[in-house]
Parts: sequence; structure tokens; C-alpha cells
Amino acid sequence: MTSHKIYVLPGDGIGPEVMQPAVAVMHKAAASAGVTLEVSEGLVGGVAIDATGTPLPAQTLAAAQASDAVLLGGVGGPKWDHLSMDQRPEKGLLGLRQGLGLFANLRPALLFAPLAEASSLKPELVVDLDILIIRELTGGIYFGEPRGVESRNNERVGFNTLVYAEHEIARIAKVGFELAQKRNGRLCSVDKANVLEVSQLWREVVSDGHKNFADVELSHMYVDNAAMQLVRAPKQFDVIVTGNMFGDILSDVAAMLTGSLGMLPSASLAASGLGLYEPVHGTAPDIAGQNKANPLATILSVAMLFRYSLDIPEAADAIESAVARVLDMGYRTPDIAGADKTLVGTVEMGELVMAQL
Ligand code: IPM
Ligand code: MG
Repeated sequence: MTSHKIYVLPGDGIGPEVMQPAVAVMHKAAASAGVTLEVSEGLVGGVAIDATGTPLPAQTLAAAQASDAVLLGGVGGPKWDHLSMDQRPEKGLLGLRQGLGLFANLRPALLFAPLAEASSLKPELVVDLDILIIRELTGGIYFGEPRGVESRNNERVGFNTLVYAEHEIARIAKVGFELAQKRNGRLCSVDKANVLEVSQLWREVVSDGHKNFADVELSHMYVDNAAMQLVRAPKQFDVIVTGNMFGDILSDVAAMLTGSLGMLPSASLAASGLGLYEPVHGTAPDIAGQNKANPLATILSVAMLFRYSLDIPEAADAIESAVARVLDMGYRTPDIAGADKTLVGTVEMGELVMAQL
């Protein structure tokens, strides 16, 4: 029987709570697919700071590197907000992205039909919404050098560097073209080529890459316009590919269109095939430990794990259908609650999905 190594990092806040049902779902789906999972658990973020003094212990990075896929809950919380930037929980996540070479971040924004009324947009604008945002994750202004704050002419000056090399642009564009091919064949590359040289290069390299994917319809859009179009007429998009910071911002906008951040999974992929899977939402410290968190984004992240790292699409489909059925039956965690719906907690939601799987 094939065996896969899965490394679980529950992290902070609601992370451990949403992880429990997700791991149960993962085991059940694996058993149905006839594969064995070797699951081990480690520390990242605030819990790692508390236990070891650093947000990304060397042991965590090494164990993640040695696995087929990593499943992460979330990192951060007010308890660690006073720490310097290098010691904050977020650094654990950024270190994993960089250390594992997770350059391609896939953030689907999919509207589950029964949740249409939870969107901040009119239902007709979001019904059947299905967008995939592909964010470059290991380059750009997040990692560019030089960076820092220094004294110049008797005042402090802060600076970061937005830098992309051709190969970084070409490989993320390729992921965009390939995924567009598997979906509706439309790729929109988002940049700021009217102002930034980096973006002019980005546009050139993406257009070059298009030559190998003639069946994909490629368009380019400035990031400010893209932000506007996402809230004006989001269904015009199929796949969006963009740099690290633009993708950070646009993916939050897209997430909100679907009505609940608590529903959205993500995948971050390396060239090696290794992937890290995590819910798009944060650690929600205000509701941690109260059995109120929505575990569906983490459960749907497990579906992506089966699809992209383990290459078992049937298991991914099965998990996604189970979630859809539970929503159709009217069960809701507080974040997606509505009139005439049955309110359930984290644990119950997990059990309901298990029962449908
Ligand atoms: C995200 C988050 C992170 C980012 C933070 C927590 C460092 O906002 O995954 O979108 O900016 O990438
Ligand atoms: Mg973000």
C-alpha cells in the first residue's frame, strides 16, 4: 500500500481546534482511497515561540522538508504582537514558505450556493463564482533586499525592495497557464506596468510564456483596476496570476466575495511537488477554545492536499461533496449562520462531514 508522510502544524488560536476534524477527515478519505498516511505533528508560530523561543524551530523546517505535504492551522495572536518582526509568529510561516520553496500559492474563491446571501455583494454578482488566484509566494517585496529602517539626514527612513527575476515570473506564469488549461482557459495577469519596471518585465515574461499555451486566453490588468473589477463584476475572472503583495491583497478581496473567510482553503506548492495546505483565515484568538470556529476551510485544505500533493483527485472530490452536502442540509457554524439554519460548533461540524464522507 502506498504511504504518504503528512506533517501537521496546528499552530495558534483556533488552529488546533480546526485541525482535529480536518485530520480525522484526512484519515477517513485516505482509507477509502486505499493509501496509508504517516502523520506526525510539530510546532510553528506562537506555540513554537513559547516552547522553543523561535517561531520556526530547525526541527520543524527539517520535518516539513522530509514530508510529502504539510497541513497548517494558522499562526499569530495578540500574545506575541509585541515581539520584533524577526521573532513574531508570522515569521514562522514566511520561513516555511521560503525554506520549502513554496513559490506558487493557490487561493480559490468559490461560492457555495447555499451561502450566497452571506456575500457582501448582491447574490446575482456572486452566484456560481469560481475564481482561482495564484499568488507568487517566495519573491517580490516580501523577500527583496535591501530592506530595513536606517537613519539618513537625521531622520529614519524605511525601505523594502520589489524585485522579480525572469525565472521567478516565468515559473509562476507557467503554473497559471497550466491551471487555466484545466479550468475555463482564461488567465488574467495582474501588475502595475504603468508605473513599475518590475511589472513591465513581469508583463513581457508572462506574454512570452503564453507562446506555449496558445489555447489559454491571456489578458493583463493593472492591480488597481483588478481590485475594482473584483468587487464590480467578479465573474469575469477565471484564473488570476500575480505577485506576492498584490496577491496578498486581492486574495482577501476575493475571499470576502464568497461570504465567509471560514470556508476558503489554500495550497502553496514547491517545484518538488511538496505542498503546504492551510485555511485562508487567521487564528481568530477572540473565539479560540470555544468550539465556535469553522473547520471547513481546513477540511477543504485537506481536499486540496489530496488533489495537488497526493494526486488522488477522487478523495478531494469526495471531501468537497461531503462539505457541500452538510451545507445543503442547513448546518452552519456561527460565522456563516443564517435564519432557519442549524447552528453547530467546530466538533459537530467535523462529525457531520465525517458522516457524509
Ligand atoms: C497571508 C497572510 C500572510 C501574508 C501574513 C500572516 C504574513 O496575510 O497568508 O495572506 O501576508 O502572506
Ligand atoms: Mg494575507
